[in-house]
Amino acid sequence: MKLFTIVAISIAVLVQSLAAQAPPPKEPKEPTEKEKEELDSGIPIANELVRKTCSPCHKVDDKLRLSRISWRRTTPEGWEQTIKRMISLDGLKLEPAEAREILKYLSNTLGLAPEEARPAAFEVEKRMIDYKYAANKDAEEVCTKCHSMGRVISQRRSKTEWELLIAMHRGYYPLSDFQAFRRGGPPQTQPGPDGSPPDNRHPMDKVIPHLTDALALKTPEWSAWSANMRAPKLAGQWAFAGYQAGKGYFYGATTIKPGDKEDEFLTETRYTRVKTGDVIERKGKAIVYTGFQWRGRSESGASGKDSLREVMFLDRGQREISGRWFTGAYDETGIDVTLKRIGNDSIVLGIDHASLPAGSAREVQIHGVNFPANLSAAAIDFGPGVSVKRLVSATPALVRVEVEIAKDATIGPRDIGVAGAFREAGAVVYDKIDEIKVRPQAGMARVGGINFPKEFQQFEAIAFNNGADRKPDTKDDISLGPVDVTWSIEEYTATFDDDDKTYVGTLDDNGLFTPNVDGPNPKRKNRADNYGDVWVVATLKLPDGKVLRARAHLLVTVPLYMKFDQPEVAQ
Ligand code: HEC
Ligand code: HEC
Repeated sequence: MKLFTIVAISIAVLVQSLAAQAPPPKEPKEPTEKEKEELDSGIPIANELVRKTCSPCHKVDDKLRLSRISWRRTTPEGWEQTIKRMISLDGLKLEPAEAREILKYLSNTLGLAPEEARPAAFEVEKRMIDYKYAANKDAEEVCTKCHSMGRVISQRRSKTEWELLIAMHRGYYPLSDFQAFRRGGPPQTQPGPDGSPPDNRHPMDKVIPHLTDALALKTPEWSAWSANMRAPKLAGQWAFAGYQAGKGYFYGATTIKPGDKEDEFLTETRYTRVKTGDVIERKGKAIVYTGFQWRGRSESGASGKDSLREVMFLDRGQREISGRWFTGAYDETGIDVTLKRIGNDSIVLGIDHASLPAGSAREVQIHGVNFPANLSAAAIDFGPGVSVKRLVSATPALVRVEVEIAKDATIGPRDIGVAGAFREAGAVVYDKIDEIKVRPQAGMARVGGINFPKEFQQFEAIAFNNGADRKPDTKDDISLGPVDVTWSIEEYTATFDDDDKTYVGTLDDNGLFTPNVDGPNPKRKNRADNYGDVWVVATLKLPDGKVLRARAHLLVTVPLYMKFDQPEVAQ
């Protein structure tokens, strides 16, 4: 314990002397052009609370720039993470109301432009994607050892700040060098691809110039956005369209009302789960940072249960807000949401069964908003080969029609029109299902329930038609959307005499995998826990008796013992 304290203090002293007041005053020599330029790029902090709170450790200069702070831009989550570290490791004390004001000020003044934030949206939307950072292989290798590349690409810094960030890692996480930053092994002897001499720099020394260049503090995007930025005007009615793997489509409407401040809002959303007809109502609130970054939270029911975090982006025309609403111990359960501003025109959101088999007749539900009164069948348009036979019923939000799909209708997507409003590729005509695929192709779940929460994995099966060329896995394949299949788990024979199938967990009828408990399992033959690899198999029986099968790999692994998260940005 004592030793730990001493080590902790000496690291803190080391880092403090090394970083907080940087750039450190060197010999009083003239700064170079480059250094002057970098110093000039610092962004002044006009907010007094920020200056008062941070200046005990961060020096304020004559242009109201704060050391370290004025030379870096990032998302609300990025700022919150830093502020949390100032609190936990550096001894900063803050009241919640002050923290909120500081976070908002920094996110607005030292934020990202929409063009900069979009590529890193997966980080804040907590999407489990297989992200490839194509711009620089070294950076990808070095910087994804401990956290996602999204953390890195959601930051913009001056050269000095990128260098100090590496210094912070080395000070607080001494393993960084060994794990990533410094090169191990014998020196390189191979020349570079262009015949240049072997590059024996440490990985971190190659990465810093790249980051300085690719993720610079000063960019045309930020200059343009910060000059134009304002609190958005969002109050009004919005059409709601959502999709959740395993649950299907949701359609409805959201009312956005003004909140306490000009960039804060209250929401009421009511939507229908198309597959079951269930109606869900949610109430929430949100803050919009930097003029376009929606961070909210909403709950359904009186008891405030079923809370979802909302991370969305507002488009420049302020007509569409889209992103992800999510929950789960690992943020793994989420709905893709798009809100569209409702004006006087009709909006077609989508239909209940998007895939229409040629040579059949069926009833179709069209969901939308503002459908006109006294609608006729002639006003409804499914495109060539699909005729609307009869209007069954119509309300402003839901129209039911009987359609007939010609036997020889050309296969492919169709735009759906209702009284002049269209939903692009809202339906797809097909002749047969050639193939199914399981999404995701590689899933991951974490055991839990005793010491740690479980991480669930939702699978879904998507049907495909081979398209005009009649060959599978080519560009013209037509996706027919999600289909109901029979789910099962099969052994993935990574180890001889494996028995993972029995122990890793269970898969329900909707493709939701629930992992087994964490902790030891004495019953098991080969090992003493519930980890393992399995195949998740989808089976679809077609009307003609043919059976289609597809599978995905599922890794059931250990709980994540360390997690970075900034859920407070929505409050
Ligand atoms: C008690 C002293 C202290 C206070 C108060 C303080 N900081 Fe820091 N700050 C540090 C130290 C020490 C470092 C260098 C080590 C590190 O990055 O954690 C640092 C580093 C930083 C960095 C650079 C981090 C990076 O990722 O490279 C930023 C940005 C920052 N602080 C922001 C703030 C803001 C904003 C405030 C006010 C809300 C603040 N700090 C208040 C001590 C403090
Ligand atoms: C050895 C593990 C490790 C490696 C390798 C690593 N990081 Fe980190 N990084 C961390 C940890 C841990 C934190 C969280 C610090 C905290 O508590 O705020 C972090 C935080 C960050 C942050 C947020 C800093 C802040 O002030 O909030 C950035 C940006 C970052 N890393 C960039 C990088 C880059 C760029 C690289 C590659 C050059 C890299 N990291 C490599 C462990 C690592």
